[in-house]
Amino acid sequence: MRLRWMLVPLLCAQWSLMISTAEAIEPITTSVAVGIAAAVTGFLARYRNVLYYFQECCRPEWISYNKTGLEVDLQDKLFGQHVASRVILKAVTGFMTNKDPKKPLVLSLHGWTGTGKNFVSQLIAKNIYQRGMLSSFVHLFTATAHFPHEAELRVYKSQLQQWIRGNVSACPRSMFIFDEMDKMHPGLIDSIKPYLDYYEILDGVSYRKAIFIFLSNNGGENIVQVALDFWRAGRDREEIELKDLETALALSVFNNKNSGFWHTNLIDKNLVDCFVPFLPLEYKHVVQCGRAEMISRDLTPDEDAIKDMAHDMTYFPPEERIFSTKGCKVISSRLDFFI
Ligand SMILES: *[C@@H]1O[C@H](CO)[C@@H](O)[C@H](O)[C@H]1NC(C)=O
Ligand SMILES: *[C@@H]1O[C@H](CO)[C@@H](O)[C@H](O)[C@H]1NC(C)=O
Repeated sequence: MRLRWMLVPLLCAQWSLMISTAEAIEPITTSVAVGIAAAVTGFLARYRNVLYYFQECCRPEWISYNKTGLEVDLQDKLFGQHVASRVILKAVTGFMTNKDPKKPLVLSLHGWTGTGKNFVSQLIAKNIYQRGMLSSFVHLFTATAHFPHEAELRVYKSQLQQWIRGNVSACPRSMFIFDEMDKMHPGLIDSIKPYLDYYEILDGVSYRKAIFIFLSNNGGENIVQVALDFWRAGRDREEIELKDLETALALSVFNNKNSGFWHTNLIDKNLVDCFVPFLPLEYKHVVQCGRAEMISRDLTPDEDAIKDMAHDMTYFPPEERIFSTKGCKVISSRLDFFI
């Protein structure tokens, strides 16, 4: 047990931690422990690379950005989001290749349910951290699960601040994903604002290499309206550009009391680097999602079953039935009925 405790910090090459662990052990065994530790360190110095392989560390072996990987994933796995794909690839690549970023990367993803916001955060994690979402450097917070009671706001605030501070001190390249931002108490996000800012060092910790991703349904309706206008004008969906959606997004984010950004000066202070709009998904995208789902289950795509499943989904607006109400969200369970 003791050896294990000593090995973990050793593996991550943190002498100070190892020594404090050694000191914590009773005096008689201390010298023995230090002796063992020294021997182990000598061994590790030589076989370090092999050992890093076993224990996830805040090191390039475990954290390195794969631009091609993200590009390919966005292209092959994310359906119907040409605007979001472009914005995300550019923002993440710019940030990850910048040796000296002036602030952490802050992305705010907006759109209707099931359009791929969560999925995109997983793709980003996967192409930065070897262990993807399972990495101990990736932290996912869900409003309803982590911060459900408004009365506990004060506790949540200090807890969240401690977590972020603790995790970023341990590894500057940490990633924090906040799901259901629309259900998050505005005060909570206000409390982490300092970490998103341009400070070089805040209480001895630099947050400049961290990544914050906020997910919300806010703005979804306005984005739908833009997509609908294009469709009704007979224009191709692919013609929609970021600038067409920016106004729609800004309006709903700024003016919506429940947006979670209300009362915060995240926006006033330009702390959010990118607002990323997700378009509502059409029938053909639901089919693509179905196909991808079957492939991911090692099944040969059954086109008839996929089409039946896609037909069975609900679409809106009621007259035209263009966009899937649930996007690709429930596909995995729906598909079971059809295969
Ligand atoms: C980056 O991703 C591509 C595509 O997924 C993959 O072929 C390649 O091996 C990855 N590179 C590294 C260094 O992991
Ligand atoms: C890091 O964040 C997690 C929550 O994702 C928390 O449980 C843990 O205590 C934090 N670590 C530190 C050192 O603060």
